[in-house]
Amino acid sequence: MTDFDVRVAQADEYEPVGRVFGEAMMFESTADDLGRQLFEPERTLVATDGAEIIGTTKALTRDLSVPGAVVDAAHVTGVGVRATYRRRGVLSQLMGRQLREVPEAIAVLWASEPAIYGRFGYGAAAWGTNYEIDLRRVGPTNDRIRPGALGVLTVDEALKELPTVLRRAQEQRPGVSGRSDLRWQKHLEDKPDDRGGRTARQILVHRDEAGTINGYALWRGKMNWVPTGPANEVLVEELVAPDATAYRVLWQHLLTMDLTAKVGYGYAAVDEPLQQLVSTPTALERRVGESLWLRVTDVPRALQQRQYAVPVDVVLDVTDDLIEANTGRFRLTADGSSVRCERTDDPADLSLSIAVLGAAYLGGRPLAEFAPTGRVTEHTPGTLARATAAFGWPTAPVSLEVF
Ligand SMILES: CC(C)(COP(=O)(O)OP(=O)(O)OC[C@H]1O[C@@H](n2cnc3c(N)ncnc32)[C@H](O)[C@@H]1OP(=O)(O)O)[C@@H](O)C(=O)NCCC(=O)NCCS
Repeated sequence: MTDFDVRVAQADEYEPVGRVFGEAMMFESTADDLGRQLFEPERTLVATDGAEIIGTTKALTRDLSVPGAVVDAAHVTGVGVRATYRRRGVLSQLMGRQLREVPEAIAVLWASEPAIYGRFGYGAAAWGTNYEIDLRRVGPTNDRIRPGALGVLTVDEALKELPTVLRRAQEQRPGVSGRSDLRWQKHLEDKPDDRGGRTARQILVHRDEAGTINGYALWRGKMNWVPTGPANEVLVEELVAPDATAYRVLWQHLLTMDLTAKVGYGYAAVDEPLQQLVSTPTALERRVGESLWLRVTDVPRALQQRQYAVPVDVVLDVTDDLIEANTGRFRLTADGSSVRCERTDDPADLSLSIAVLGAAYLGGRPLAEFAPTGRVTEHTPGTLARATAAFGWPTAPVSLEVF
């Protein structure tokens, strides 16, 4: 059924677009100045029935760390269809047009439900780990030496200091989204209504001996008393510490807060080093789920803009039902100093769908994982193992925020 149109949003549609998304997600959408400034109408698509907006999707302009590089990635969000128009193909129309039009070679998103985006060629490229740490069971390692110094920043100070730390973290791990100054302001907003009964956000930083900030944590506390005594809770919203000492000292501090029984952290990587800092790692209660979904929108450009763990020379036969230019055979060659990816008529070594390529792109999902279910087919013996090693990466990808 096509009783609706899809068009680019207009500059004055910030509020109605927010309302449609809020209604679909079941939250009250509130307009504010920062949100208005961050609105990118030219990168927002709306589906309309007459004058009424019935569906939305946005592509935010942001960068993302990928193996060995930081590249532009369309950050897709604000996806919602009014409940009275569901299951009539509105999302399919919005997604199809968005993926064909975004200038970036990759698009990423967090999915409300994992069943939605595979059909549009997205693959789950990073797992997120949610930790619930019971401090009575998980003792921190008995490490009392705490080099450097801890301090607390105001929001204004943080806006100046933290962006450099996040950029360093992007160099270390794939999956981390960059933030413009405006986006940092939004990120550090701390409206009392959004605190969920917790304290105001604390901006904790670690400085090295020279006084340079080399790690930070954003956290909140919640007072809780039970019949046996204090059982406060600490919620770590973000911890970014590209320096190993800063990482250790920040976590030691947060795991030893007075009166506290529990620490929560929602954005751990699957290989989060915190596991090595506690004496009983198995007692870190973990829930693992998909975090970042990734869609390759331009195969040769996307494959050329990341690095590979080992040299590789492989012909990939890719299928893509939405973007015709991605379908066909591509030779990927990486020799440690340069990467090339071009169309070829040579026979394929491996066949795979665009969604599998997206899942493997950040180096967190081995290509070989998809062979037993037939989602990757090896035509030339040995190429699957070699390509799996090349697409892999020493650090697992992690996404540090739901956008
Ligand atoms: C999810 C949502 C955007 C889907 O919009 P829609 O216009 O109904 O989607 P479409 O009609 O284009 O559906 C396309 C296909 O996806 C499937 N699909 C849609 N939503 C789905 C869901 N939540 N779970 C599983 N499958 C879903 C449809 O069944 C359809 O499959 P088919 O082609 O095999 O028939 C809409 O229902 C919505 O706004 N939900 C609440 C908000 C939300 O979850 N937004 C996503 C934020 S990441």
